[in-house]
Amino acid sequence: MQSVLYQTKENIATVTISRPKALNALNAEILSELSDNFKKIQQDKNIYVVIITGAGEKSFVAGADISEMKDLNLKQAHEFGNYGNTVFRSIENSRAPVIAAINGYTLGGGLELALACDIRIASEDATFGLPEVSLGIIPGYGGTQRLPRIIGISRAKKMIYTAERINAKRALEIGLIDMLTQKSDLMETAMNLASQIASQAPISVAYAKDAINKGIQTDIDTACAIETDFFAKCFETQDQKNVMDAFLKKEKFVKFKNK
Ligand code: CAA
Repeated sequence: MQSVLYQTKENIATVTISRPKALNALNAEILSELSDNFKKIQQDKNIYVVIITGAGEKSFVAGADISEMKDLNLKQAHEFGNYGNTVFRSIENSRAPVIAAINGYTLGGGLELALACDIRIASEDATFGLPEVSLGIIPGYGGTQRLPRIIGISRAKKMIYTAERINAKRALEIGLIDMLTQKSDLMETAMNLASQIASQAPISVAYAKDAINKGIQTDIDTACAIETDFFAKCFETQDQKNVMDAFLKKEKFVKFKNK
């Protein structure tokens, strides 16, 4: 039985972490299947947007699997953290933007997975936290690095040092999530957003993602040079020529070709 389900609809892939009995806790099998799915997505030029969600009613992901971590020694813990970070970087670097559709418990590695996504939509029952210091460890799948970049340094420090849990309303207030929905509307809201992104020029969206991700890590001069390179590369695409041509001829533009 697979622990990560993969479905596609038109140009949108949905990746569902499905281990509901353990609240979708991330074990080695799930990380490996996530990695395989994102390799497949990277090679499939027909996938323009990805949605990641968790199966069951209670959680998105309740963290890394504590039973797999308990007895690790220094070297094994290093490999454990490195593997999770590598998988999450492949999600963050995926050509197609990734939307996290979040319900219920989103703790530890679960929140770290959501932080590696481009956009986070949560339902009203979602709960967020990085409880690692309450377990004698620190966040190991990117939480100490991405949370401060997203919500600010002192807010991230407060969340991490206190191991506090926050609700979805507070997560929206501090910019940890981007949209809040009713539980019953979560997947429809995520799908609508994905469709809106998928209807844009796919190469432009991918370049915009790359420009933002690369530029945000560097100084503003280098960042603007990165933007200029991607901006220029757009002019090598058929989609740019066709849509601008149609605009100037006042013709209705039908569909981007991803070329
Ligand atoms: N690892 C392994 N198993 C987990 C788990 C996890 N992170 N979270 C939940 N489970 C399992 C439970 O052991 C339990 O299994 P059994 O039925 O076999 O006993 C099952 O999921 C259901 O969980 P609970 O009975 O505890 O459910 P609850 O509703 O009473 O509580 C909860 C829910 C508050 C989320 C609680 O399960 C919990 O605190 N889970 C751990 C959350 C956590 O600390 N996550 C961080 C992990 S560390 C990490 O992620 C490190 C990193 O950065 C890489």
